[in-house]
Amino acid sequence: MLPLRTPRLMALFGRKKLTVGLDVGSGLVKAVVIDHSGSMPEVVKVAITPLNDTAIVEGEVMDQGIVAEAIRQTLAATGAKTKHVVAAVGGRDVIVKKIQMERVKEQQARERMRWEAEQHVPFDMDSVELDFQVLDPDGDGLDMNVLLVAAKQELVEAKQALLIEAGTSPTIIDVDAFALHNGFEANYPDAKYGNIALLNIGNEATNLNILHDGVPILTRDLAVGTRRMREDLQREHGLGAEEAEDFLRGYDRHPMIEGVVALRGEEIAIGMERAVTFLASSQRNFGAIRAVYACGGGSRVPGLMPWLSGRLRIPVQPANALARIAVRDGALEFLATDEVAPLLMLPVGLALRAAA
Ligand SMILES: Nc1ncnc2c1ncn2[C@@H]1O[C@H](COP(=O)(O)OP(=O)(O)OP(=O)(O)O)[C@@H](O)[C@H]1O
Ligand SMILES: [Mg+2]
Repeated sequence: MLPLRTPRLMALFGRKKLTVGLDVGSGLVKAVVIDHSGSMPEVVKVAITPLNDTAIVEGEVMDQGIVAEAIRQTLAATGAKTKHVVAAVGGRDVIVKKIQMERVKEQQARERMRWEAEQHVPFDMDSVELDFQVLDPDGDGLDMNVLLVAAKQELVEAKQALLIEAGTSPTIIDVDAFALHNGFEANYPDAKYGNIALLNIGNEATNLNILHDGVPILTRDLAVGTRRMREDLQREHGLGAEEAEDFLRGYDRHPMIEGVVALRGEEIAIGMERAVTFLASSQRNFGAIRAVYACGGGSRVPGLMPWLSGRLRIPVQPANALARIAVRDGALEFLATDEVAPLLMLPVGLALRAAA
């Protein structure tokens, strides 16, 4: 069984020259290869393979053969010989929660974590993988803040089985929310202060990550993404799936899209408001969110970010996974950088982490 690793634990692992971050999304399988041998990490290859709409549904792999084949193809397209692949799990079977517990030494905290988790996590403790990070190791209060991660074991095992079927030997299974955060932090160091929301608007889910002074304090998945928007366009305007997709990937705002943006944007806005209400009620002195960053394929939908910004009354800006990371010539080959960079936050974050 592979342990889940938090940022501190990652530091124990030595540098590997090439790391492949693999993001198995329901719409696109994405791999980013990062070379860690130089003074700064450098993206040396990006490969993307589309999946059909029935291969992964609601986070569940419906057709393991098809998904494994797409992974195999994507990795082959990177040309990377390494089997050192970093992947992640996420969704409702992963819980990330900030808790408070009596201040004890790390080893003691580890021993107590299962008991602590029982108080906070609605999973059966016999089949759960736990990890944690002490957020204020140098604090001197009686209590300490701990970021607790709990993932259902079967989820981690299923991911490993998928990766093995695809011919890799995964060394690390990470958590989506941490990898997203990691990619984001590398590109937006200025976002370390205050309360920030990061939205990864994907094909079938939107990952919401709320950060306080650079630490993720709440993560949630909202069941909204480009798949819904495509279906809306098909149903409301009689478009074919490809036509609908072209609108969503395009650059022009169009009256047909405005309706979809408002409908699905509202779901995202409500999800954010609920999260903020929860934080305000459970944490002392939780201030307002000062900025929202959006990535994922859905962030490219024309008009969505300005709509969200107006609705939430907070600036919403694009989060580019390659904003501050060196990219070797030819790494993206025929992919358009500005089109794919927003989609790569998770795989970039995964590929970066292994070098910590
Ligand atoms: N250049 C592009 N190429 C492919 N798809 C794009 C592009 N730009 C936007 N999209 C849209 O983004 C979607 C994929 O976004 P993303 O890769 O973030 O989702 P995913 O990770 O596959 O989904 P999820 O995380 O919800 O399982 C596609 O389904 C498509 O609608
Ligand atoms: Mg995704």
